[in-house]
Amino acid sequence: METNKETGTRIDEIASGIFRISTPVPPAEMPGGFTFNQYLIVDDAPLLYHTGTRRLFPLVQEAIASVIPPHSLRYIGFSHYEADECGSLNDFLEVAPKAEPLCSTIAKMVTIDDIATRPAHALADGEELSLGTHVVRWIDTPHLPHAWECGHLFEKTTQTLFCGDLFTQSGHEHDPLTTGDILENSEGMRDAMDYFSQTRRVHELIEKLALTSPQVLACMHGSAWQGDGASLLRQLAGRLAA
Ligand SMILES: [Fe+2]
Ligand SMILES: [Fe+2]
Repeated sequence: METNKETGTRIDEIASGIFRISTPVPPAEMPGGFTFNQYLIVDDAPLLYHTGTRRLFPLVQEAIASVIPPHSLRYIGFSHYEADECGSLNDFLEVAPKAEPLCSTIAKMVTIDDIATRPAHALADGEELSLGTHVVRWIDTPHLPHAWECGHLFEKTTQTLFCGDLFTQSGHEHDPLTTGDILENSEGMRDAMDYFSQTRRVHELIEKLALTSPQVLACMHGSAWQGDGASLLRQLAGRLAA
């Protein structure tokens, strides 16, 4: 584990070759405290999933540099178009000359090919991409939890689901990886912030994610979680139905 002593930004391996970068935001800056996480898959073609906001760029870059040279990044992936997901996309494209934005076909068509300094590499629903040892699969989940272009990435060899804003937890002090409950915290956030869309397809889309049988849920806010991911996703579906 490497930590920036000033900001508390840390990087920890949470599955084989998969690193969680996390920056805490104390309660004085955001009520209740919060965290912004990015994930780095170290492989022949290294992939950064989520960039963090532009303000976080130096910290995320520094954390990556403690593991691999940032210029070696090959893909900059993200669930949907928001500042914490891809705010510093162009900064990373500048640092890493071979990197491509990696996103859904809708994200490429609607937004990314306009705002990014290089064209996006879009993945269709179910399409797989080999990074060397790791293999990622894109799963379209429009509007789950929000944004038309939204999708989630699944890494097959470690059975890690990069589940983005699903299971968003409040607080700024979290273990990198936990087997404890994250659902009650994230349900509290859903209640307070109302960040889920009202898509009619919510159950079908959550089931699509559950069918990957994830063993690790790489959450964007809070701890990553280890356990029976399909069961936890179905519990979430039950809460959304209530
Ligand atoms: Fe989001
Ligand atoms: Fe987010």
